[in-house]
Amino acid sequence: MTIDTELGLMTEQLSVFLMQATLPSGDYMKICCIGAGYVGGPTMAMIAHKCSDIQVHVVDINQTRIDAWNSDHLPVYEPGLQEIVEQNRGKNLHFTTEVDEQIRTSDMIFISVNTPTKQYGVGKGRAADLKFVELCARRIAEVAEGHKVIVEKSTLPVRTAETVKRILANASHEATFDVLSNPEFLAEGTAMEDLDSPDRVLIGGESDKAIQMLVDVYAHWVPKERILTTNLWSSELSKLAANAVLAQRISSINAISALCEATQADVDEVAHAIGQDSRIGPKFLKASVGFGGSCFQKDILNMVYLCEFYGLKEVAEYWEQVILMNDHQKQRFARNMVRTMFNTVSGKRIAILGFAFKKDTNDTRESAAIYVCRDLLTEQANLAIYDPKVPESQIRADLEYVFKQENGELAERDRKLIEENVIICNSALEAADQAHGVGIMTEWDEFKDISPAELYEKVFKPAFLFDGRNIMDHKAYIEQGFEVYAIGKGLLNS
Ligand code: NAD
Ligand code: UDX
Repeated sequence: MTIDTELGLMTEQLSVFLMQATLPSGDYMKICCIGAGYVGGPTMAMIAHKCSDIQVHVVDINQTRIDAWNSDHLPVYEPGLQEIVEQNRGKNLHFTTEVDEQIRTSDMIFISVNTPTKQYGVGKGRAADLKFVELCARRIAEVAEGHKVIVEKSTLPVRTAETVKRILANASHEATFDVLSNPEFLAEGTAMEDLDSPDRVLIGGESDKAIQMLVDVYAHWVPKERILTTNLWSSELSKLAANAVLAQRISSINAISALCEATQADVDEVAHAIGQDSRIGPKFLKASVGFGGSCFQKDILNMVYLCEFYGLKEVAEYWEQVILMNDHQKQRFARNMVRTMFNTVSGKRIAILGFAFKKDTNDTRESAAIYVCRDLLTEQANLAIYDPKVPESQIRADLEYVFKQENGELAERDRKLIEENVIICNSALEAADQAHGVGIMTEWDEFKDISPAELYEKVFKPAFLFDGRNIMDHKAYIEQGFEVYAIGKGLLNS
């Protein structure tokens, strides 16, 4: 260690000591966040970064995840996250598995656990599985003392706060609670920017005092006019509604992309032309191989379930169509690949570039690539997959998961198919080596820098490029000799 780093560390420790020594215990606010995932980690890192007067503890039952947060290899890849964690970790940002201790000693407790689509029982495949949220509420009820503000950060079905309040009403140590809804609107890949400068922060609640306490946290860096306060139910529902409307825009442009391919219109030109209308706006009109991510599908399914629950059949069907269109887009892309490569990909190597559900994240949840790969494997293709941030173990786990049967078992035949027909590569060019076709699944910037000439050298001829993100320079690839299929543009050479 150099003298400079040693001095730096001493100053850091001294400033923490002074802060804690000058503030009698209890004078600075303490926040605990249950769930150290893609939302809990980045969100709390930003709160700690912006609020040096608040001590933030992120807790999780997953020891491996907590160890990773305390290491140089964070479990979540987000541009800018590592720097902020390193600047604040050990000062006012802590990652620990001591859930009970942090519940007991915190003034405000965020619940930021996963709320996946339920895979069993009533509402299977549609409703949100709230068992993790309920477990948190029960844990808080069991160990909390005094007064706590509980903040729902997870995305939840509207009226979940009612359940949380009922569980908390049975607290063991006569603790009292206020429950707030504060849904998170960050998008992965831009999480730190979104948290630093959010379009809005939404806080729903019943107690003005509790609402003000949370407003004061965000007011450290978010302009007051961007902090919206509503009733609990509006806040809970706004999160599902925002995701539904965003996903609907993508399904709308993807539906138009199919029509473009049939009519020789160009989807990028159409998106630009309609997006110039200020009533429509340019964002979220990028045609793609299909939206993925942990939120859109799960939250729309959840909304569909809620609509059915409230007897709103037509409303449920309306939102479900957004999902059906997305499934269609993924299948359509895989089918077009097969059709273009002379109606068979059996035994052919296909390079799959990108596996994450979007660029700048290591997250693969519901990634379109998983479904395209499944369809190509079913056609007996050999896949050579490359993603700059997703590890091999994750890619294999996702493929095994998507092939699992109703009973949750992976058939021996499918296990062998994945084992024998999938290889994971360390670069795009390695994946393309002796491939019959190259498919772009994720819009990673580095793919735009691939040299068409070098790629052409690697692949079998005729050379096929399938651009599921419309990021490549199609003209350059055609000039190089590729046959190029692009979403919403069709086969460009014909
Ligand atoms: P995640 O799976 O990355 O993280 C959830 C964490 O909670 C896991 O580490 C898990 O171990 C932990 N956990 C579960 N039960 C626990 C318990 N009882 N005690 C302690 N820890 C527990 O999930 P995520 O992507 O961070 O999403 C969390 C919530 O935020 C979800 O409701 C999601 O819909 C919502 N959300 C996600 C995003 C996103 O982009 N990922 C954006 C906005 C909102
Ligand atoms: C989404 C919401 O945007 C965010 O506000 C919410 O908090 C969580 O869910 P996220 O899923 O992380 O965020 O990423 P997002 O940027 O919305 O992209 C979701 C999917 O849609 C990705 O697969 C992306 O590639 C795709 N997409 C997005 C398109 O296909 N076209 C677009 O125009 C925009």
